[in-house]
Amino acid sequence: MAFIDDVLEAETRTGEIKIHGPDDFEGMRRAGRLAAECLDMLTPHVVPGVSTEALDRLAREFILDHGALPACLFYKGYSATLCISPNHVVCHGVPSDRPLREGDIANIDVTVIVDGWHGDTSRMYGVGEVGPRARRLVDVTYEGLARGLAQVRPGARMGDVGHAIQAYVESMRCSVVRDFCGHGVGRVFHDSPNVLHYGAPGTGPVLKPGMFFTVEPMVNLGKHHVKLLADGWTAVTRDKSLSAQCEHSVGVTETGLEIFTASPADLFKPPIVGA
Ligand code: MF3
Ligand code: CO
Ligand code: CO
Repeated sequence: MAFIDDVLEAETRTGEIKIHGPDDFEGMRRAGRLAAECLDMLTPHVVPGVSTEALDRLAREFILDHGALPACLFYKGYSATLCISPNHVVCHGVPSDRPLREGDIANIDVTVIVDGWHGDTSRMYGVGEVGPRARRLVDVTYEGLARGLAQVRPGARMGDVGHAIQAYVESMRCSVVRDFCGHGVGRVFHDSPNVLHYGAPGTGPVLKPGMFFTVEPMVNLGKHHVKLLADGWTAVTRDKSLSAQCEHSVGVTETGLEIFTASPADLFKPPIVGA
């Protein structure tokens, strides 16, 4: 997801929201599918004791083997293919030799470039047996994304999307992170518009057929505040509460939306085993 200030300063950002045609939809379909297949591939590897570095290597090899590029590697100095964000890490967790442990929940976020098009998606994985509070947070996060996506159609406003997510998440006594947002996506990784996961209905840009963007709410069990660790990337909850996220890249169609990053194996929500 984009750090709001970075999006505002990006050279590629003109403030205009690009409108794409049928060939562009086909490009995003291919990029989105490969990103989803990469996360499908990782599913059986997310087990107690695996290092996040090992998962990163698997993803990088998978992407290169399929003739695509890992978009995050060397992006603004980032050093890995994946962002892996366990437990109280909100986003942009940097893969390391630290192993995942029984009971962890972790977001894995991947972006691939296929023929210049960016497919950007993330999911929550459970490591071994996971406790009830963490499982509930993951459920709320997926339902929040679903409620946001249900608003996407021509004539709706971006604020309708954010409002649907925020209203649901807060009704479940969780909070929506404010410091990171979704983003326009396509040939540019982080483009206009900002996609806020909170807000007021009837505000923000009007959605039109041909717009491409991500929706990627970050939801905390505690308060919404985040802080950045000294590595300059890893964002964590200030109150150390658990955080979850999931992300799709979508396009607005004449009648609604197309999800480019749907899982061919129906693993967008990998099963999480209860403790
Ligand atoms: N994939 C993230 C997003 O959803 C972006 C990660 S940028 C990185 O927008 F540099 F941290 F990899
Ligand atoms: Co994104
Ligand atoms: Co992403």
